[in-house]
Amino acid sequence: MIHFDIFTLFPQMFGGPFGESILHRAQSKGLLSIALHNIRDYTTDRHHVCDDTPYGGGGGMIMKPEPIVRAVETVLVQPAGWRLDPADVYVNLPTWSGEVPTPLPADTPIILLTPQGRPFTQAVAAELSTHARLALLCGRYEGVDERVRTGLATDEISIGDYVLSGGELAAMVIVDAVTRLLPGALGDKLGAYQDSHSPGLGGLLEGPHYTKPPLFRDQAVPAVLLGGHHAQMTRWRHEGALLRTLARRPDLLHTLHLSEKDKTFLHQHGWRPEAND
Ligand code: 6GU
Repeated sequence: MIHFDIFTLFPQMFGGPFGESILHRAQSKGLLSIALHNIRDYTTDRHHVCDDTPYGGGGGMIMKPEPIVRAVETVLVQPAGWRLDPADVYVNLPTWSGEVPTPLPADTPIILLTPQGRPFTQAVAAELSTHARLALLCGRYEGVDERVRTGLATDEISIGDYVLSGGELAAMVIVDAVTRLLPGALGDKLGAYQDSHSPGLGGLLEGPHYTKPPLFRDQAVPAVLLGGHHAQMTRWRHEGALLRTLARRPDLLHTLHLSEKDKTFLHQHGWRPEAND
């Protein structure tokens, strides 16, 4: 069982992805629970302001520290699953010291989603999946006040080298990738173990897959898959993964543990490890 607390100004964005397919099923099975927390609920001023202009000028708006720090410090001292009662929003917030940091459980990572964070990979997903509870902080606008980073977040993650309008889509990506790794979240018993980038494939990309019909237009399913010779099929799949990785992501081959047989096979298909990718 894993619990995500997600802090956002746009909780409605999460309804679609979290209500469908694997994420929905994982929640129904009790493998996963998600609590969405609206940062705006933790403002105390009349207009519920969550952002302000940057000191020193420059464009855009910066997320203020108090609402997000108050939200996280209020939620994380409560048991997993706690949410602010909607009747209490604005009018009856739990008491909070704005002056000194609230001690928070050390085993709950507080992850700020930012394009400046460490790159999210399958290995990072596996690491996150070992925690019982995680907090994801979705930044919006041009950024969050630096003191959220230095005084609250314990980790910072980016999902790639491009800029999103906010951390919400990144949070959904992380919840999805982590949930696939939970035992029982996928239908079949091998689960995510045989996915691209995963240990079952040694970090290779997956090779081609086929289903019926055996002939579609002029393209036949490779005979080896129809023959039922198990060892040959396994070798064919492995070589397919090697060839696909060589064609599309030769950079991955440098960091993998390849057998001598694999290296010979790749060399026969044009791999020159000393060449630039
Ligand atoms: Cl985590 N946030 C934003 N705003 N943009 C991103 C990102 C995160 N990861 C890649 N681009």
